[in-house]
Amino acid sequence: MSANTIAINQQMHPLEPHEQVWLFGYGSLIYKADFPFIESRPASIRGWSRRFWQGSHDHRGTPETPGRVATLVEEEGARCGGLAYLISADVFEHLDYREKNGYLRLTTEMTFRDGSCVQGLVYIATQDNAAYLGPASTEDIARQIAQSHGPSGSNMDYLLHLADALRLLEEDDPHVFAIERLLMDMEPVLGHS
Ligand code: SIN
Repeated sequence: MSANTIAINQQMHPLEPHEQVWLFGYGSLIYKADFPFIESRPASIRGWSRRFWQGSHDHRGTPETPGRVATLVEEEGARCGGLAYLISADVFEHLDYREKNGYLRLTTEMTFRDGSCVQGLVYIATQDNAAYLGPASTEDIARQIAQSHGPSGSNMDYLLHLADALRLLEEDDPHVFAIERLLMDMEPVLGHS
């Protein structure tokens, strides 16, 4: 599959412009809401784990030196915590552009903290997209993140902002926090303040 998913997403989920849709965010969408939304609520989805297995050619890296950003991978019994946004369908024009580097809009059920559930959408970069990088050791992921920069800023900022946002949501994520610890240890070596 081409790394640019804009056309696929528009064909897969044609929406009426003023329809309201719940979107589950688990990566940069948690901490960078550069779009209008009607409401946001902490939520989780089942059967998926957050992993830094997607390459970023357009935000936190380049095609030559991709960064590593979050996607979801299927895992039985797993739970992924994040933030759900109720948005008007016309906002997907902006979001499809932002998430175009491999992310497909898939339908999902999400659960709010009061136990109620809704159907909505989530952007997932599946392993058949051209920018997919797949698993690597935590150390290798941290090293790649430490070295990558793209038009939206450093890959390290993406990881550190996400870790902070997850703490604010009181969500544990051993994968994210393990990478964060390694990055913090590297910081003096890399000269970040
Ligand atoms: C998301 O945040 O839900 C999608 C992945 C990303 O943009 O980081």
